[in-house]
Amino acid sequence: MSELDLLVKIRENAARKKRTLLLPESHDERVLRAAEIITREGIGSVITLGNEETVRAAAKAIGVDLKGVRIIDPEKSEKLSDFSNIFYNQRKHKGVTIEEARETMKRDIFFGAMMLKEGMAHASVAGSTASTGDVMRAGILCIGTKEGISIVSSFFLMVYPDVTYSFGDCAVVPDPDAIQLADIAISTADNHKILTGEEPYIAMLSFSTKGSAKHKLIDKVLEATAIVKQKRPDLKVDGELQFDAAIVESIGKKKSPGSEVAGRANVLIFPDLQAGNIGYKIAQRLGGAEAVGPVVQGLKLPFFDLSRGCSVEDIVNTSAIALLMAGN
Ligand SMILES: CC(C)(COP(=O)(O)OP(=O)(O)OC[C@H]1O[C@@H](n2cnc3c(N)ncnc32)[C@H](O)[C@@H]1OP(=O)(O)O)[C@@H](O)C(=O)NCCC(=O)NCCS
Repeated sequence: MSELDLLVKIRENAARKKRTLLLPESHDERVLRAAEIITREGIGSVITLGNEETVRAAAKAIGVDLKGVRIIDPEKSEKLSDFSNIFYNQRKHKGVTIEEARETMKRDIFFGAMMLKEGMAHASVAGSTASTGDVMRAGILCIGTKEGISIVSSFFLMVYPDVTYSFGDCAVVPDPDAIQLADIAISTADNHKILTGEEPYIAMLSFSTKGSAKHKLIDKVLEATAIVKQKRPDLKVDGELQFDAAIVESIGKKKSPGSEVAGRANVLIFPDLQAGNIGYKIAQRLGGAEAVGPVVQGLKLPFFDLSRGCSVEDIVNTSAIALLMAGN
């Protein structure tokens, strides 16, 4: 399936769910344009944050029709006080005061995260102006991690003309321990299935295949593989595997005979962020893959990040992915 086909399918499937999307950053022209497209195509009902008059004037000035888009002003909202109290109670053990909680809740990204937590939207997409760190912090501190998952991480859909891989984690967790690496593998596998419909085959990547080398870096990958098997016996996982043994059938057969994953892996888990971030960029820049993401995973609710260089199309596509993942 091409990237275009996959994204069309994701948009259509998201539209069928008739869910509500939060796009907090109304001060960004790209967000207003994306809100118009998402509303027009029926991908979801959009809420944005800001002063209603200012937002409508900004939209009018660039010829964007915001009919059907709801605008909430955090500063004027009756929810501000409730949200500040919730945040204060969640963070007071870390020294946060009620005044600091109120100031934090006036920030669109944090107010948006609390709206999601309180069920006022199904998914949120932000980060066209806020940094990845700020978006992740709002998600982690307001929403928290999914039950049974220790870490918030991310993956990219790496789309080639006839095959789509999921690469994790390439954007969030610098140096996961074995338990965290196992959680990254489980989350990426589950999301690969949701977004592509394919059965996940997970390769836990290393510079060694099945004992061809010995090193403490490999031990972490082996331990993580064992944890995945123990936590989720239903998943197909193998490790440690080199990249070629993971995806090339003839090499997989030779280096890991009898493995049901080697040679056919579609979920590729990197041992740390240096490998993951370099790896996805090589696949994208030299390998010609379309990289869709980073898709944030591990939070209780879909609270997604964007790259600050994102296009309007990127915002629309990420929104469709977030809406499709809501409730899963
Ligand atoms: C996720 C991130 C924002 C956390 O940074 P931070 O605010 O310095 O985190 P801290 O270590 O101070 O932790 C703050 C809290 O978040 C929690 N936390 C941090 N990272 C977490 C994660 N990935 N998942 C779950 N919880 C996490 C900590 O346990 C801590 O909780 P506590 O205060 O309740 O004890 C940071 O790892 C980051 O910026 N990652 C992005 C890396 C990057 O720049 N990528 C760019 C390439 S695209």
